[in-house]
Amino acid sequence: MAQAIGCVAARARSFGACLYWFESTASTNDVAARLAAAGASEGTVVVAETQTAGRGRHGRVWLSPAGAGLYVSVIVRPGRALAAGEYPAALITLASGVAIADAVRAVTGLPAEIKWPNDVLIGGRKLAGILAEAVMQSGLPQFIVIGFGVNLQRVALPPELARRATSIEAETNRPADRALVLAEILAAMSERYADLQAGRFDAILNAWRRLATSLPGARVEWDSPTGIVRGRAEDIDRHGALLVRVGNTIERIIAGEVRWL
Ligand code: BTN
Repeated sequence: MAQAIGCVAARARSFGACLYWFESTASTNDVAARLAAAGASEGTVVVAETQTAGRGRHGRVWLSPAGAGLYVSVIVRPGRALAAGEYPAALITLASGVAIADAVRAVTGLPAEIKWPNDVLIGGRKLAGILAEAVMQSGLPQFIVIGFGVNLQRVALPPELARRATSIEAETNRPADRALVLAEILAAMSERYADLQAGRFDAILNAWRRLATSLPGARVEWDSPTGIVRGRAEDIDRHGALLVRVGNTIERIIAGEVRWL
């Protein structure tokens, strides 16, 4: 059952001006997609206390125990800007990663970093992830749902996940203020989205570079049709692609899974 916490004045354009809260849902991304298809406005936010079928990137499960994390989806409608070629859709997720990392820094003082494309890490362990899903119409996104999960509390995880994940509570030894973290992230996402709409791409790319402390020089590998390719990540380009030096050439990685070594 959803409790629509409601929408403030229609002219308010910041993310979360319209917010739906669920005690439990399968995936906030699915709820947001249904709301968007039914006409929900840009910036509408869906929050759940727990998800029974939370999704991560590359078809992974996103464990979503009750109250242990933020499970949130935001609807954006960048169709006109994307149709006009003003910026690529990939910049929306990069901008969201910047917003989450900056918000975590602002609220907790923790040194949150970004790993391409948009994992948020602390000390090399994952604190937050983003799953952006587009619904297409005539070759362009009719809307995009930006889903993000932020680990707030320590939880018992399978050992292979426990080594790679962290939470705000584990890093600060204090309970996280979930309302404050959510409010700060939504405000930061709203501002970064406004940067995109206003063409301030360098502000986003430079903020991303500032937060991607493992670049340049991080060793990466990925699977190609001819086998594993290894190189050193150097930078991102204006389209949000990762630029990797492999021998004397620079490879552009647009999507797919990169393993950080
Ligand atoms: C990742 O794999 O790093 C992305 C994780 C994204 C998880 C969030 S939680 C809220 C939203 N709903 C989902 O089902 N997934 C995203």
